Amino acid sequence: MTRQILVTAALPYANGPLHLGHLLEYIQTDIWVRYQRLAGNRCTWAWASDAHGTPIMLKAQAEGMTPEALIESVKASHEADIKDFLLVPDVFHTTHSAENQELAELVYNRLNEAGYIVKRTIKQLYDEQDKMFLPDRYVKGECPNCAATDQYGDNCEVCSATYDATELKNPISQVSGKTPLLKDSEQHFFALSQFGDMLKDWTTSGTLQTEVANKLKEWLDNGLQDWDISRNAPYFGFEIPNAPGKYFYVWLDAPIGYIAAHKHLGDKKGFDFMETWKPDSEHEVYHFIGKDIANFHCLFWPAMLENAGLRKPNGVFCHGFLTVDGAKMSKSRGTSITARTWLNHLNPEYLRYYFAAKLGSSVTDLNLNLDDFITRVNADMVGKVVNIASRCAGFITKKFDGRLSTIYPVEPQEHYDQMVSAQQVILEYYEQRDYGKAMREIMLLAEHANTYINDAEPWVKVKDPEQQQAVQDICTVGLNYFRVIVTFLSPVLPQLAGKTEEFLNTSLTLEALQCPLINQTINPYKPMITRVEDKQVQAILDATKETADAAASTSTTANAAAAKLEPIMDTIEIDDFAKLDFRIAKIVDAQPVEGADKLLRLTLDIGLEQRNVFAGIKSAYQPATLIGRHTVMIANLKPRKMRFGLSEGMVLAAGPGGSDLFILSPDNGAAPGMRVK
Ligand code: 2FM
Ligand code: ZN
Repeated sequence: MTRQILVTAALPYANGPLHLGHLLEYIQTDIWVRYQRLAGNRCTWAWASDAHGTPIMLKAQAEGMTPEALIESVKASHEADIKDFLLVPDVFHTTHSAENQELAELVYNRLNEAGYIVKRTIKQLYDEQDKMFLPDRYVKGECPNCAATDQYGDNCEVCSATYDATELKNPISQVSGKTPLLKDSEQHFFALSQFGDMLKDWTTSGTLQTEVANKLKEWLDNGLQDWDISRNAPYFGFEIPNAPGKYFYVWLDAPIGYIAAHKHLGDKKGFDFMETWKPDSEHEVYHFIGKDIANFHCLFWPAMLENAGLRKPNGVFCHGFLTVDGAKMSKSRGTSITARTWLNHLNPEYLRYYFAAKLGSSVTDLNLNLDDFITRVNADMVGKVVNIASRCAGFITKKFDGRLSTIYPVEPQEHYDQMVSAQQVILEYYEQRDYGKAMREIMLLAEHANTYINDAEPWVKVKDPEQQQAVQDICTVGLNYFRVIVTFLSPVLPQLAGKTEEFLNTSLTLEALQCPLINQTINPYKPMITRVEDKQVQAILDATKETADAAASTSTTANAAAAKLEPIMDTIEIDDFAKLDFRIAKIVDAQPVEGADKLLRLTLDIGLEQRNVFAGIKSAYQPATLIGRHTVMIANLKPRKMRFGLSEGMVLAAGPGGSDLFILSPDNGAAPGMRVK
């Protein structure tokens, strides 16, 4: 029977670019979706942008734009990355949508009618000066666990403890800079504590990986707390019905966004999404997520679904974290690599193959070791797979007018059949998300194919007029092996599969493999995949580091629209301010920096001397237009060694970024070196 499967991946927050950590999950999901389709199942991938919550609201303020404009522009950039990484969701919707509002209200109302929404008055931090309750990220103080200073109200960046904002020591409002008060606030709680037994059964019923079920058991054994699903205004999200000034917490409406995206697709395509979401549906639902959000998906979410009269997922598949060269991704070391930076320098299929080769079904972390990456991609994709085609195709094109043999050579037919029947093992590995094992099986087939060609030596036989048929047969066999191998690899390497279809004039399907390809004209071979070069990987690291340097080398102030809620840094004394030596500087030269996309090298005349300063303003200025203009620089900033040279100060700039970045330019009459304050 054809399975009807709905798949989701976690919804990316609409406040920043996708990076390789995101892609690990999306590639894992995409391979599974493509495998299901290859296996003949009906598999839909419903996906969306996660558009609500405080960090998005804050980011929009900092950028001087509305949250709506921010989420729209980030969604567009995510869509471009999705397409270019060859991911095939059926829909990429947004949680800030009419469908999601309707469904979030439906779920909430059903829970409320069933008596599972409880209103409780709790103490929350309140800014008396600005008359507002403070979201967790609007307050900073000392961590209640390790006493680290300057920590946000939700978790500590030093010791990773999570806590309530009211537990912070010496809290300071980031809105007014004042100490907030504790004030009563009514909040809406979902009565999660009542569903411990149901969740104990569900989490141990085979829906989850054992490691995840064991981890959740700790929570369940300690007893679940009711879950606060409301937030006070200001908040970017949906207002709770009949509760003015209260909003759904982002984690309430985010997973409902899976259903809303599916509904959006159904409305467009003319199917009823409820066929999948009704409690007794025979359709299957699977969520791919990172292990850090297992509690939301394996406790809160099934309890919400069950009590809102909706079905629960058949499986939640958790993966581990990505490290690059053994370390957590870090901007300053150049390892927090964005999807776009990768695409600027390397083929997306290299990453798809490497992740596939290393992914298993467990939650262990995955390391992208860059040396191993280069070796593995070159050895497997180029040396083993594509090599089969490049060794056989030339003879067929040049000597046989592009035609394969009329009948399949008798001798190796059983080898062909054996190769095709390897699909049983390979497909099962795909199904279990053991892609690494699937890749190993496929590479064994590729090694077998290469050995066959080596032993048969068509390049020797081609010189003997008596052996021409043998040469055509060897190459026909080799290209048939190639066809089988690329069909098996097609969930991982869809672009290679597409090029192979064009080259062999055929569609790559499992059914088609039952008969070998014979008596067929093929197209001339064009190189399908080239080797990865060390310098391409180095260029990715350099570009990533450069972005971090550029961000650190320009002091931008948020514009007026953002000023009110932009978190204020710790106060400084007037004496600290007095230490800053602002000087009028004349830009005597401005040059692009070789190998840097964002930086300009400025030569600044400050009267007594000239300074070399790197500024991340290339997106806003043609270098030549700056020469002769004046700006303000901090002249006593300790020189910093950058990859491109020494930066001896910093110029001031204001604006949201991109082409809107304005270096301050006082009257041209101002004398270089003059102090400004
Ligand atoms: O952790 C995150 O990045 C969330 N944006 C994932 C949401 S998944 C789902 F619940 F919507
Ligand atoms: Zn701490």
